[in-house]
Amino acid sequence: MNKSGVMILGPGWVAGEHIKGYQQSEYTEVRSIVGIDQTSKKKAEEYIAEYRLDATYSENYEQELARGDIDIVSICLINNLHYQATLQALQARKHVLIEKPLCLSLEELKRLREEVKAAGIMTMIGHVARWYPAMVNAHKLVDQNKLGHIFYGESDYWHEIAPGWKTKAETAGSSLLMGGCHSVDLLRWFMGMERRVREVYAYTTGPHRRKDFEYPPAISGILKFEDGAIGRIGCCLESTMPYVFHYQFTGTGGTVRNNRFYLNQWEGDKRKFKEIEGRTADDPDVTHHPFPQEIQYFIECIRQNTEPQLSILNSYHTYEIIFAMEESAKTEKPVSLPL
Ligand SMILES: NC(=O)c1ccc[n+]([C@@H]2O[C@H](COP(=O)([O-])OP(=O)(O)OC[C@H]3O[C@@H](n4cnc5c(N)ncnc54)[C@H](O)[C@@H]3O)[C@@H](O)[C@H]2O)c1
Repeated sequence: MNKSGVMILGPGWVAGEHIKGYQQSEYTEVRSIVGIDQTSKKKAEEYIAEYRLDATYSENYEQELARGDIDIVSICLINNLHYQATLQALQARKHVLIEKPLCLSLEELKRLREEVKAAGIMTMIGHVARWYPAMVNAHKLVDQNKLGHIFYGESDYWHEIAPGWKTKAETAGSSLLMGGCHSVDLLRWFMGMERRVREVYAYTTGPHRRKDFEYPPAISGILKFEDGAIGRIGCCLESTMPYVFHYQFTGTGGTVRNNRFYLNQWEGDKRKFKEIEGRTADDPDVTHHPFPQEIQYFIECIRQNTEPQLSILNSYHTYEIIFAMEESAKTEKPVSLPL
């Protein structure tokens, strides 16, 4: 069978999980790793040895993009480099999986939307939390319409991130772009990707304890949907606690509260929640995240020619909400959407 060739751009921490995902598939193989310096060369060589890859290392992205045996690009660079690398992959007509965040500004977001329409390829943003078994099982209740009309949802990404580029404004962007984007994506997924937010109001605070942050590491925002539903997003990257990805959604038929649920219509003890089975997002280590499942899904979308739920076009509103929240926090005024 002819396998699709994959290029990994940015051999750092998360890249290893992407490589694992592609190598586990019978349809893909990693053929190229592109880095920038001796450190990335060393990391690439480690990955090539560990996963026994038949892959080359290069520091010339353009040249690698021109290769006929490369079909898919996985962008694992630091945040501020995602936009340019994505643009180039779209122009080279390669399928592209982009680590979160997609980009760092509304201007970049709009440009990518225009470019992707012309490219005719598959794109996906790596909001990997969707593949945690507990979240998949919770979302089945939505698919089965057990929660009814969801009118209130919340999601919080509370974590303490490591020092370095992730705390710098230029390289990371903001707390929402660095981590809270997972929460915005999750909220949209549960409340319905077709539903639109019409107004947001947000505040930021900090840094308080971690003075290495160049941007406020905490933000809280309220969302008003066009249909009257409400939501709340919280993100704190200097949390004094272990990593927790909290979410709760309530509807006319029932409620999901992390790995527990409650339904109006069920037999048994009405005073208690029931457990939702499966691994939850309670470990910040990327080896714990469900990257293989995320990558299998992306490969299937390419093979079946179906647009990923997390394509650039489908995620446009996610990033629009993020940029609206940031604008609101800056001006301390509500911001209306669309931007
Ligand atoms: N989906 C998730 O849950 C998840 C988890 C971790 C990281 N991420 C994302 O993955 C991306 C990489 O994160 P990481 O933790 O692997 O980071 P990392 O620092 O381990 O790796 C970053 C890569 O970018 C390269 N790089 C750094 N500066 C560069 C420059 N100026 N020019 C070109 N390349 C440069 C590095 O050489 C390295 O290969 C980030 O965007 C991050 O937000 C996502």
